[in-house]
Amino acid sequence: MTIDIKKNVQWCGKIDWELRNFHGEELSTPRGSSYNSYLIRDEKNVIIDTVHGAFADEYIEQLQRMIDLNEISYVVVNHAEPDHSGALPKLMEHCKNATIICTNAGMKSIKGYYHKDWKMMPVKTGDIVKIGTRNLVFVEMAMIHWPDSMMTYLTNDNILFSNDAFGQHYANAKMFSSKSDKAVLLDEALQYYANIVAPYSQKVAKKIAEILTLSLPIDYICPSHGVMWDENITEIVELYDKWAKSYLEDKVTIIYDSMYQSTRKMAEAIAEGIADILPDFELNIYNAAKTEKSRIVTEIFASKLVLAGSPTVHNGVLSSVAAVLGEIAGFGLKGKKAASFGSYGWSPVGIKILNEKFEKAGFELINEGAKALWNPDDDVLAEMREYGRNLAENIK
Ligand SMILES: Cc1cc2nc3c(=O)[nH]c(=O)nc-3n(C[C@H](O)[C@H](O)[C@H](O)COP(=O)(O)O)c2cc1C
Ligand SMILES: [Fe+2]
Ligand SMILES: [Fe+2]
Repeated sequence: MTIDIKKNVQWCGKIDWELRNFHGEELSTPRGSSYNSYLIRDEKNVIIDTVHGAFADEYIEQLQRMIDLNEISYVVVNHAEPDHSGALPKLMEHCKNATIICTNAGMKSIKGYYHKDWKMMPVKTGDIVKIGTRNLVFVEMAMIHWPDSMMTYLTNDNILFSNDAFGQHYANAKMFSSKSDKAVLLDEALQYYANIVAPYSQKVAKKIAEILTLSLPIDYICPSHGVMWDENITEIVELYDKWAKSYLEDKVTIIYDSMYQSTRKMAEAIAEGIADILPDFELNIYNAAKTEKSRIVTEIFASKLVLAGSPTVHNGVLSSVAAVLGEIAGFGLKGKKAASFGSYGWSPVGIKILNEKFEKAGFELINEGAKALWNPDDDVLAEMREYGRNLAENIK
């Protein structure tokens, strides 16, 4: 499948309908994804990024139906992560006359993966490569999300090939934002941001300001995953700017895990108390062991208040809750409040451990946490409801 974006600019990637996990088993991709590659025809023909190695043969066959690969002058590698560069070795076998364009850091990561002596041309922000009637302009994006990351802009057609930025893990045959279900698209874009881009938010805000000062007219943003943004381009750029700056919705997220239901009952009672005081807030409860971690991370990313609950187990906490708080520890999240809770049998260290994890992740703890000895009775559950009310008052 190929898609015409403009005259002489085509999408030539691969939609992966079956994909359910990404970054190994780390992220969930319930709607699949796509690896977007692009062909620009001019006096010099250009390929922007490739696809996952698993699809290399199909990808090359598709390209060969489109063009004589000896006629490719440049292969732009915006980022060498194997989801985009996996098909590069096979592609370079066919593109005998091509030079790879990448950042300085890209030269190292491409070498690091493939150990080949391909012809490479390093570029920096603002560098221009003339390809005929049009130019390619490069914008480095170091650490959004690898040292090698960059974007490529095509003049005249006003297309920004943004690589991982503005992407979504969303397999969609229509491939354009104007033809997609808006709510699903924005949810997938947020899920992608929260799980992949959020750790680099400080750099994202600066990069967006930098791109805006370049005053490049942008008609299309073509990322390396998911659909291409072809209308209201400013909307997704403004959303990124908002997400990059301590993003807080009127939302409370409670995560817990429980062996014998005591901590679950606490979670539900606390939630009732929160709902008493904050009826207009969105409030979700997730058993961390039974919910996709990516979904929970997305909910936490958007929440003002996050609660974590675990029974004390072997002087520790249950691994599913620890994994979620461990995942977000390096994200540098700001402006969020937190509290812990959990059942115990003899020494309630669970809430202390959860508190430490919250502090490490940059959350402001509202209190020392709520504990319940063994199975909470009606009186204890009433206390938990009151505890929930107090937490809600704190963020009202
Ligand atoms: C395998 C196991 C290990 C436990 N380790 C501890 C512990 O180290 N300290 C403690 O106070 N309670 C410990 N407990 C007791 C639990 O915290 C207690 O049963 C609690 O009520 C379980 O809550 P839940 O119903 O939410 O799973 C342990 C229980 C189990 C089953
Ligand atoms: Fe990447
Ligand atoms: Fe990617």
